[in-house]
Amino acid sequence: MQVQPGILKSTEIEHALLPELEKRRSKRAFSGKPVSEETIRSLFEAARWAPSSMNAQPWVYVYATKDQPELYKLILDSLNESNKIWAQHAPLLIASLARKNHIGNGATNGAARYDVGAANALLSVQATQAGLIVHQMGGYNKLTLIENLNVPGSLEPVVVIAVGYAGDPDNLGENLKARELAPRERYTQEFFVHTKAF
Ligand SMILES: Cc1cc2nc3c(=O)[nH]c(=O)nc-3n(C[C@H](O)[C@H](O)[C@H](O)COP(=O)(O)O)c2cc1C
Repeated sequence: MQVQPGILKSTEIEHALLPELEKRRSKRAFSGKPVSEETIRSLFEAARWAPSSMNAQPWVYVYATKDQPELYKLILDSLNESNKIWAQHAPLLIASLARKNHIGNGATNGAARYDVGAANALLSVQATQAGLIVHQMGGYNKLTLIENLNVPGSLEPVVVIAVGYAGDPDNLGENLKARELAPRERYTQEFFVHTKAF
């Protein structure tokens, strides 16, 4: 098969999908509506029950709402300007981190970042079910986040996550508004699912 990504993309859902997966989308426009503590806790509960290599559960989270303006700003300030411009309106910011070593024997956990990704994915699905938007960001300064949150050497930042209820796309700049309203696009399965050896 020749790799021609442009040809193998589609905006269609082509097979049965959970409604939460169909609805999930990394939007950027947030309303001012706060996220309740109970809802926040249910997001972390979803992360808590994620699978992980050797059940090491290497995920660690630091979160702040607008009610903790100092901590909120410490997380926000680590973001790249292109993310800060919209993420500053999210009522909830979460820094996700990976515990690099196993608790019991101190051995390096090679699956730590993978497992934090899985936990974040489940968190995203739970959030979607609760009517929330989740937007993960790799666009942040790792050293700034480490410094701002006084992150110990045993932990490694993974992604910062903006969470909130969907807002009015008109509040975004023209460029971001267009991206917000554009249909989601994906490679078709033909591109990435194989039924024979390479
Ligand atoms: C690890 C990771 C890093 C990402 N970093 C950013 C980012 O820095 N800024 C941003 O606007 N979106 C970021 N995203 C969101 C992706 O752009 C988004 O998931 C992708 O375009 C697919 O869109 P969808 O989530 O709405 O389906 C990131 C997503 C992931 C999983």
